[in-house]
Amino acid sequence: MTPDAASANQSARAVALRLSAATLAIAIAALGATLTPSRAGAQEATVQRPNVSHQRVVTKPPSEVSWRFTTRNLRQIKLRLRSARCSSRAELILDGRSLERVAVPKGRKTIGVKAFRDPGTHKLQLSVRPGGACRRARVTVYPPQIKEWIPIGAAIWSRHLSADPAFGDLVANEFDFVVPENDMKWAYLQPRRGVFDFTLGDRVVDFARSRGIDVGMGHVLVWHVQNPGWLWQRDPANPDATNPWTREELIEVMREHITTVVRHYRGAVPEWDVVNEAITENGSYRKNIWYRVIGPDYIELAFRFAHQADPDARLYYNDYGTETANNPHSDAVYRLLSELRAKGVPVHGVGFQTHVFPHLTGVPTAEAVSANFRRYADLGLRLQITELDVAIPGSMPKTPAAYEFQAGIYRDVARACQRQPACERFTTWGATDRYSWLTKSAAGLPFDPQLQPKPAWTAILDVLRPRGRP
Ligand code: G3I
Repeated sequence: MTPDAASANQSARAVALRLSAATLAIAIAALGATLTPSRAGAQEATVQRPNVSHQRVVTKPPSEVSWRFTTRNLRQIKLRLRSARCSSRAELILDGRSLERVAVPKGRKTIGVKAFRDPGTHKLQLSVRPGGACRRARVTVYPPQIKEWIPIGAAIWSRHLSADPAFGDLVANEFDFVVPENDMKWAYLQPRRGVFDFTLGDRVVDFARSRGIDVGMGHVLVWHVQNPGWLWQRDPANPDATNPWTREELIEVMREHITTVVRHYRGAVPEWDVVNEAITENGSYRKNIWYRVIGPDYIELAFRFAHQADPDARLYYNDYGTETANNPHSDAVYRLLSELRAKGVPVHGVGFQTHVFPHLTGVPTAEAVSANFRRYADLGLRLQITELDVAIPGSMPKTPAAYEFQAGIYRDVARACQRQPACERFTTWGATDRYSWLTKSAAGLPFDPQLQPKPAWTAILDVLRPRGRP
């Protein structure tokens, strides 16, 4: 062998050695897989596996595999490992926080962890190191199975919580989250100009926290109802207004309210109904105080103010009568959201109130709702059923058949949400007919006035919680 050839041979061995060392060191850190939610979209849906299995050789220091995945609501992670020559130790880290540390004996091990997280993209990391006296372990890490779910929530009014403990128990025992039916409306939060009172809204948040359930959508930042008298006093539509609001003044009033409220609830309220019912049933802008004084761009401004106040909050437009397409109201809301998205306004989702009056609104079938949901999802929006109730028509006797008819509508709406991967939450506007904005005879909610479940509740659970409450 010539000196040149010998030297070349040595270099080749050195490179080979360095390569195998490098393999040991970098193999785990490589490959982050992006997983997308399953189209099946059921509560038990599993995020699709990438069709690779990650084979990793582990040495000291610990090595790491990571994945990114998007779910509507994360519920459980299952991960399978095989430790070949020796035992190993593994730590599962989700969004930067340690979830679980496990010893992996030589052989196979499945890690199953309940991990509830809001909708969005998450980062999962697995850190592996040799266990016990082992200097080296050969570990195969299989792609994780991610299970997601659709939480079921109820609107509640704080006054009922204090007056009726059985009602609070029902909500905490049966529902996954609550939203404020009235307590976060302007009239309560800012009863006098510049004077904020969070007492009632805080009660809803405190109730949820103390009972281990979540808070869903904050309701509502900009609406035309339940506003304080001082707004009306200077409304140009008020014949007694002596000094009507100017556009600049009302923008500032709106900015101050949104900023103060959203900042107060930052970290406690993950998403907001920012603008509610801005479109009328004939498809035109609702001529509310905001529109009359500021103009149609109050909508865009409201979203921008909310986003500035809490960049992490998911921001929704919410309306009624929009759950199916091909009516002027629904189609105008769709156009509005298309325009807002095209302009880059920070609107992240659309809420479908879904107050069903079968004799007036007709009956929304799962197919019609699904088709409508698809077009909104195609805009890149998140979706929610925000205020579902189904009034039993006054002409219909309250027989078991009537309750089954009602349950069928609840089932269909739940199915449409379950089938659409962008549909993240399912909220009924109240829990029980004991407290409902509908008359008692409309009996529109899933629990009766005695707090007993009606067929509507069974229908919801059949679709959204086929394996019981997680
Ligand atoms: O303000 C008075 C109060 O001073 C008095 O003590 C009380 C006596 O009952 O009445 C109070 O007004 C009531 C108000 O809630 C509370 O601020 C109204 O009578 C009552 O009709 C009103 O109803 C609420 C309604 O919004 C207001 O329009 C309902 O509880 C609430 O379920 C309903 O919710 C709306 C959503 O916010 C938006 N989408 C439609 C949905 C149903 O209408």
